[in-house]
Amino acid sequence: MKKITLFNVLLLALIFSATSCVEKPQTTPVSSKTLNLPNTPFDYTSVIVSNVNDENPAVTPNGATLGRVLFYDPALSLNNRVSCASCHLQEKAFADVGAHSIGFEGKITPRNSMAILNPVMNRSLFWDSRATSAANLALQPAQNHIEMGMEDLDYLAEKLQKMDYYPNLFEKAFGQGAISKENISNALAQFLCSMTTFNSKFDRVQKGEVEFTTLEAMGNSIFHGRGKCNKCHSGDNFMADDSPSGPYGGTTNSGLSVAGTANTGLDRFTKDKGRNNGSFRIPSLRNIAVTGPYMHDGRFETLEDVLNFYSHGIQDHENLDPKLTENGQPIRFNFSELEKQALIAFLNTLTDEEYLTAEKYSSPFK
Ligand code: HEC
Ligand code: HEC
Repeated sequence: MKKITLFNVLLLALIFSATSCVEKPQTTPVSSKTLNLPNTPFDYTSVIVSNVNDENPAVTPNGATLGRVLFYDPALSLNNRVSCASCHLQEKAFADVGAHSIGFEGKITPRNSMAILNPVMNRSLFWDSRATSAANLALQPAQNHIEMGMEDLDYLAEKLQKMDYYPNLFEKAFGQGAISKENISNALAQFLCSMTTFNSKFDRVQKGEVEFTTLEAMGNSIFHGRGKCNKCHSGDNFMADDSPSGPYGGTTNSGLSVAGTANTGLDRFTKDKGRNNGSFRIPSLRNIAVTGPYMHDGRFETLEDVLNFYSHGIQDHENLDPKLTENGQPIRFNFSELEKQALIAFLNTLTDEEYLTAEKYSSPFK
């Protein structure tokens, strides 16, 4: 009898601690670092971008500053351990190091963390284009794409209200009034929209300030010519034409082995069909040298692996983009070693060192 009582007590204690855990998570972030912001906000508004997606909010210096704090703050997760920056690292153009990232309570993301590259221009975000703007996405991350455990955004608003630095930051950004999930999302979207990268060697060549080396110039010609890369990675942001009138809503099937094809052993997530039948976002190639591993499942370690795939590895698929076929078969570019080196040299010119180090995009917690 005694045993059973003890068991019952233990059981009750367990249930109690489990529910109290869900209802009252700790409110103080574990970060021992302190918030360190400049007296005058950084300049987040001077870069004028053409072709912006006007679903996004206008960026203000105080709004983007607040967004920066939110982006780096583990308090946005239920256990105060995961921030946006856990999976989006500045030195990797906000991609992550591994093929998959670790979120709340060790959960692994099924897809490769994406780099953040001029999202103000995008009309299709995520590997399956399920978000239509940074503004539309900014509420989603905390809720679904990543496992931060913070499902209840009203609770998040209450939590931030009780922290010492947020009421003042929200007031500066939005005026008086309680912190709400809408202005949390708005501030995050403002920070995302301020994240512009247009200062690579490629851009300086466009402006006539410097010249490509011979090898880079050769890579540029292949990219825009025989390699057909620009047929998909196009425009100022080297990504899909995802304008509302664009051809794909930003996605296509690029001939990786994915759900719906014979599994060649490459595909670790054969159940992932992307947007539909193996179509995935045509991502921006800006800063591509630092954002590996590559593709939606991070299957390729290096750019050389990627080029070997395009050179002779494209898989047939009922949904394969016709631009990657020839006489009804997957195209074989058979790039020579020199051509691959040239393409890599060209892709390296898309790295914007300033973006990878700019203080205004870095953690404000020092
Ligand atoms: C646990 C890792 C993880 C965390 C934390 C995380 N992300 Fe992500 N992020 C990802 C993954 C993985 C993807 C791709 C998801 C997909 O396609 O389904 C992604 C995609 C994105 C994209 C889309 C980029 C594009 O070009 O389409 C943006 C923007 C983004 N995240 C912002 C955020 C913000 C803001 C936060 C914090 C509120 C955040 N992320 C937290 C892993 C993470
Ligand atoms: C038919 C459209 C199409 C063409 C042509 C094309 N790509 Fe892609 N590219 C894609 C798609 C779609 C993805 C994402 C595929 C995935 O993850 O499932 C991608 C992904 C990539 C990536 C990885 C990006 C990342 O963030 O992981 C690189 C690098 C790349 N392509 C380079 C090239 C180069 C170089 C060429 C020319 C030789 C080229 N692409 C031609 C559609 C295309």
